[in-house]
Amino acid sequence: MSYRAYDRGVLEAGAGGAYDAWRDWDKGKGSLALVSAAVLAANPHNSQAWVFRTTPTRIDLFADRTRMTGALDPFDREMYVGLGCALENLLQAAPANGYRAQVTLLPTPGQPVHAARIDLAPGPRRRAALYRAIPDRHTDRTAYRQRAVPAVVLAQMTALAAGLPGTRLYWYTDDADRGRIGTLMVDAARAITSDEQQSRDGFRLFRSSWDDIQKFKDGLTLDTQGLSELTTALAKMLPASDRRSGDRFWVDATRRTHTKAAAAYGIVAVPDVSDNRQRLLGGRLLERVHLWTARNGLSLHHMNQMTERADRERQLGLSPRFGPAVQALVPDRGWQPLVAFRIGYPTGDNGRRRSPRRPAKDVVA
Ligand SMILES: Cc1cc2nc3c(=O)[nH]c(=O)nc-3n(C[C@H](O)[C@H](O)[C@H](O)COP(=O)(O)O)c2cc1C
Repeated sequence: MSYRAYDRGVLEAGAGGAYDAWRDWDKGKGSLALVSAAVLAANPHNSQAWVFRTTPTRIDLFADRTRMTGALDPFDREMYVGLGCALENLLQAAPANGYRAQVTLLPTPGQPVHAARIDLAPGPRRRAALYRAIPDRHTDRTAYRQRAVPAVVLAQMTALAAGLPGTRLYWYTDDADRGRIGTLMVDAARAITSDEQQSRDGFRLFRSSWDDIQKFKDGLTLDTQGLSELTTALAKMLPASDRRSGDRFWVDATRRTHTKAAAAYGIVAVPDVSDNRQRLLGGRLLERVHLWTARNGLSLHHMNQMTERADRERQLGLSPRFGPAVQALVPDRGWQPLVAFRIGYPTGDNGRRRSPRRPAKDVVA
């Protein structure tokens, strides 16, 4: 038992080199300091599908296609959204480090893997509130309090789309909407776990041993699953969960906790979800919202099983269930749902646990 306690890092939540990126994030110098902020962004399944090239006056952001999440993201939607999240952190860090940044999205025609070029020039030093929130932003999968988020608070987040053309935020707060979305979320989680390939691709990114977390510095961990401290410690002492029990745990948590404790759902929408530029901009908005929640006493949990399933149905040519259902949630013609999440007021600190990260020096080509 004591070896297992060591092997699984029972007492070590957030410790070791896999978490150094959170502590050192604002200690770097020059353009690398901006990458140190970027790598802390939200990203699908903590796959960190990014590579940066830096010079003193320029940063290029590339997709790392070797780190894709497979059948969970068959059309790269989430990968580009995650790159947009990283770009947002990077741009928040630019003025904080005395740079004025100019961004060109998809700067190399015909090479979508080149997600962005950021030209840097000296500029006034300014540490905005969203920048300061970077090390406090975490995906919180715990139950939230049964307390509504006031409309005025939601409106402040809606306003974060300013300067991100072609992005919009929709909120769902009444019982009927939340019930409808909750049912879709649970059904989509079930459908994903019944799809052998989607289930396998999700499990591949689950790191259950301390050694794997420290070695790979990526993926999902027990610490971030929204369990209490005691349950997390006990779960770490048990033999590593197999794929099927992991799937069951997720569906149960979606049904019993995530969808029962969503004070509001949010959807980031863009005119065309297949457009990589719009995905990057939508990712920037998503990260802004997440940073804002971290600054303002709210928690956020990304929940994308509906669109993961919609894309999978399209990939396999299955009769579409989730595609039309998730589209119907967006009330305006000409807008499509890109990503979804729930927000609410946290009950404690368990949802504020860090996830592993590869530090900037490991992701610079
Ligand atoms: C595009 C995108 C999709 C995501 N989808 C989900 C999801 O469906 N379920 C979930 O629990 N987390 C989801 N996440 C959250 C990531 O798993 C999380 O950002 C990552 O594990 C890093 O953890 P952190 O956000 O706490 O730093 C998503 C994040 C992004 C950017």
